[in-house]
Amino acid sequence: MTQPILSEGERRAWVDRGYLHLEGFVSAEACAVLRERMAELLESFDPSGLGTVFSTDDQRHAQDRYFLDSGDRIRFFFEALALDDRGCLTVEKARSINKVGHALHDLDPVFDAFSRQPTLATLAHDLGLAQPLLLQSMYIFKQPGIGGEVTCHQDSAFLHTEPLSCIGFWFALEDATLENGCLFVEPGGHRRPLACRFRRDGYTTRMEQLDPAPLPTEGLVPLEAKTGDLIVLHGQLPHRSAANRSPRSRQAYTLHLIDGTASYSADNWLQRAADKPLRGFV
Ligand code: FE2
Repeated sequence: MTQPILSEGERRAWVDRGYLHLEGFVSAEACAVLRERMAELLESFDPSGLGTVFSTDDQRHAQDRYFLDSGDRIRFFFEALALDDRGCLTVEKARSINKVGHALHDLDPVFDAFSRQPTLATLAHDLGLAQPLLLQSMYIFKQPGIGGEVTCHQDSAFLHTEPLSCIGFWFALEDATLENGCLFVEPGGHRRPLACRFRRDGYTTRMEQLDPAPLPTEGLVPLEAKTGDLIVLHGQLPHRSAANRSPRSRQAYTLHLIDGTASYSADNWLQRAADKPLRGFV
């Protein structure tokens, strides 16, 4: 039997607060390996042609397809402020990307190895996942000057199972501060019901309100984090991050897990091809 990673106090904190801040969970070197690998992926990414896809509301349909087909691929999503009205980049390519997703953990060997390190399997077990499946990965840039805000949400609204089982791992690949857009969470907010659900029908999506009480916009607490820290987020925990108007980026890697014993909702936005089933840690 593998030794647990979480102490008794951390387990209690998880149950009470719905999040954990595990300092120095991965090494600074491991973070550098991911940053360097992403720089290589960006180098080989050709944005020509994609600019128009993301530039105007007329292109909404193409944008939706590009996003909705990304569940089992590696795709690049621009910062809203990185494109002008004609879809031309207003900043250099390496500074233009908001995030890369959503199957880095399956398709790229470097992200695969990071995402399936044995300590994460033990952690997933400690957190109560009976049959953890790696559902979604994102590399988030929070670019200096133009990094966009992420409004308050619950991850289970987007990654829904019955019963609810989503857990998010958020790795700080650089220091996250109040200035460059660190996470904010509502301690204990994971006891709230799911406020809404993001549902997909073919290539259209809609947000459905489930609970009349809105998620909080004030009173969340900031979680400043150092490079290598891991923040674990319960799927119902309200969280957000502010825009980054500072001169420093705030890169992070996120991995979302679900329990294979729960049923994955057929109208989730993230769907994978039948020949690319979800995998666990092995
Ligand atoms: Fe989230």
